Amino acid sequence: MARFVKILKDEEAIAEFVARQIIQSAQNAIAEHGQFTLALAGGSTPKLLYNLLGTTYRDDVDWSKTHLFWGDERAVPPDHPDSNFRMVQGALLEHIPHPVGVHRIMGELEPSEAARRYGQRLAEIFSPNAPVVDLILLGMGADGHTASLFPHTEALNETEEWVVANHVPQLDIWRITLTYPVLNNARQVIFMVAGENKAERLYEVLHGEVRPFDLPSQAVNPAQGDVTWAVDYEAGRKVLTAS
Ligand code: 6PG
Repeated sequence: MARFVKILKDEEAIAEFVARQIIQSAQNAIAEHGQFTLALAGGSTPKLLYNLLGTTYRDDVDWSKTHLFWGDERAVPPDHPDSNFRMVQGALLEHIPHPVGVHRIMGELEPSEAARRYGQRLAEIFSPNAPVVDLILLGMGADGHTASLFPHTEALNETEEWVVANHVPQLDIWRITLTYPVLNNARQVIFMVAGENKAERLYEVLHGEVRPFDLPSQAVNPAQGDVTWAVDYEAGRKVLTAS
């Protein structure tokens, strides 16, 4: 596993850089095994990227051979303002030809049922093997969480299930999330991190003491895959001075 840190001018530059990475990964995956499996990040940072993929680069990905997944979802219906599916629907899905697979986490269900069904869906798509996602996009919260793997939560201890429901006491909410077994089985992971409020934490994650129960993003280390951190100057300013 190799780790790359790319410090870019701003959020637009992150979106541009990651869009080009996705296009390249899609071409490679489709050439190698006939399809491209892409897990999308939630939150706000990836919105610019999804807008780009739905406009400028709309025709540069073969959506007819692309399966879209979500790295996590809030325990809300797909039309709820907090839904990651809804965010992607508006920024991307409404603007591209229908992908061969759009695998939504059913946040409207009871969380453990949503997790069970999503795990079944992964088993179907990747059968007979464990899920090896070609590219997983992730964000990082200012507390060091990624997907819905929040500090000091149960999901961090999961070593078997591919998807779990995770109660997040610090937010008093339920989430459904991919677990480390899937994240660390990916061919490639790209983190997108922007903003001054993440600079301190990003430095700790990349250069600090390894303490993944406090900093869950630290434990994303695919055995057979590369991890690229696409960060803007604001988030990367402490990392820059450390290099
Ligand atoms: C979510 C994401 C979450 C997100 C980080 C960063 O459902 O919110 O999965 O892990 O990537 O919280 O969010 P921002 O991009 O909004 O800073």
